[in-house]
Amino acid sequence: MDGQKKNIILIGFMGSGKTTTGISLSYKLQCALADTDKMIERQEGRSISDIFASEGEEGFREKETELLKNLKKNAHRQIYSVGGGTPLREENRRLLGKLGIVVYLKASPETVYERLKGDVSRPLLQVKDPLEEIQTLLRKREELYLEAADIVVCVDEKKPAQVVKEIMEALRQKGEEV
Ligand code: S3P
Repeated sequence: MDGQKKNIILIGFMGSGKTTTGISLSYKLQCALADTDKMIERQEGRSISDIFASEGEEGFREKETELLKNLKKNAHRQIYSVGGGTPLREENRRLLGKLGIVVYLKASPETVYERLKGDVSRPLLQVKDPLEEIQTLLRKREELYLEAADIVVCVDEKKPAQVVKEIMEALRQKGEEV
């Protein structure tokens, strides 16, 4: 890798801003960005919603783990943005940790709800009471996100530029080259 520059992996709940933050961070750090959901969609030639519909959540999770297993450390630093459910499997948390520095974008249920109101691309949130579902899922997941994370940045009420600034500061504090 570029000297000792480690990969950066963005984790967090749906709507926590992984994609937006990933784009800004990749400009700032001048490195490539890959979104694992998009990689799966490209590989499969269909949307995440279609995969959930035909193979269920478990089928999708298998594909997520397979993809993670095949992500190699490249010569250059890379930013990965992964699906909100990726850190749920123990095996995935281990693979993410091996791949680079894991940054958890922590969002409250209210932030997620506001950002994703009306979104139809997340199969898990196509329910009668999305806010309640977000609260339930976040309660179950929070501990696992924290377990996977090297850095935690709270995103509530922050603009992407502020989130990126805080990530950069945290990386520096960890002695990472930025
Ligand atoms: C999921 C998050 C989604 C996508 C899939 C499942 C989850 O990714 O992987 O719909 O379980 O939280 P984003 O976090 O990018 O929305």
